[in-house]
Amino acid sequence: MAPRMADPGSTLTALIERRHSVREYSDAAIDRVALERIVHCAQGGSALGKRNAPSAHALYPLRLFAVIQRLNEPEYAPGLYALDTPEGRLGEWVKTVPPEALRATALADDVWLELAAVVLVVAADYAAARAHFADHQPDGRRGERYVHIETGAVLQNMHLATLAQDLGGVIVAGFDDARLSSLLNLHAPLQPVALFCIGAPAEPSAGL
Ligand SMILES: Cc1cc2nc3c(=O)[nH]c(=O)nc-3n(C[C@H](O)[C@H](O)[C@H](O)COP(=O)(O)O)c2cc1C
Repeated sequence: MAPRMADPGSTLTALIERRHSVREYSDAAIDRVALERIVHCAQGGSALGKRNAPSAHALYPLRLFAVIQRLNEPEYAPGLYALDTPEGRLGEWVKTVPPEALRATALADDVWLELAAVVLVVAADYAAARAHFADHQPDGRRGERYVHIETGAVLQNMHLATLAQDLGGVIVAGFDDARLSSLLNLHAPLQPVALFCIGAPAEPSAGL
């Protein structure tokens, strides 16, 4: 079906129209620079001194981590890394994460968690968001709502940036919270909100 609001002059429109979930990957490793560009678009510093995704009251309650499974850079061993999000760079190695263990946290059999080259983790400090917005709605729901809205913005930036790097990706949010937290050493106040699998599409045309 032809897009109703076609805007052929816009690179962004073209990218948005090509966005789709990619769940089949080749076994190729991905480049660190491509990964850091994706992280930069998701949560890196903006030209105006804030971040590339919006945050209510500029609170920034989200934290990103990366489970590296295949990166084109031998010094980055597979495992969980913290991400220095304003800089958009890979930070400290945290721990080993067996790919099959990551897949086992999914509620469905999301094999793409095991096959992806990298799985980005969006976690949130819900306590900070609840406390900050307590006077808006004291049951904490306003803060939680904002966390989820912000996660959506971050995921969409990630997805479009992934496509722009000729890679493919898919959101996975159907996971067992307790099992995933334990696997990734996420402790209160941090809780996982979403995962984003990234890889070179098995069928190159699928990613483009
Ligand atoms: C909040 C959310 C959660 C999702 N969780 C999963 C998931 O757990 N596993 C999965 O394979 N896809 C997941 N997806 C991807 C959707 O299945 C996908 O976006 C949908 O089928 C539309 O396809 P498209 O992205 O190719 O347009 C999720 C998407 C969203 C927005």
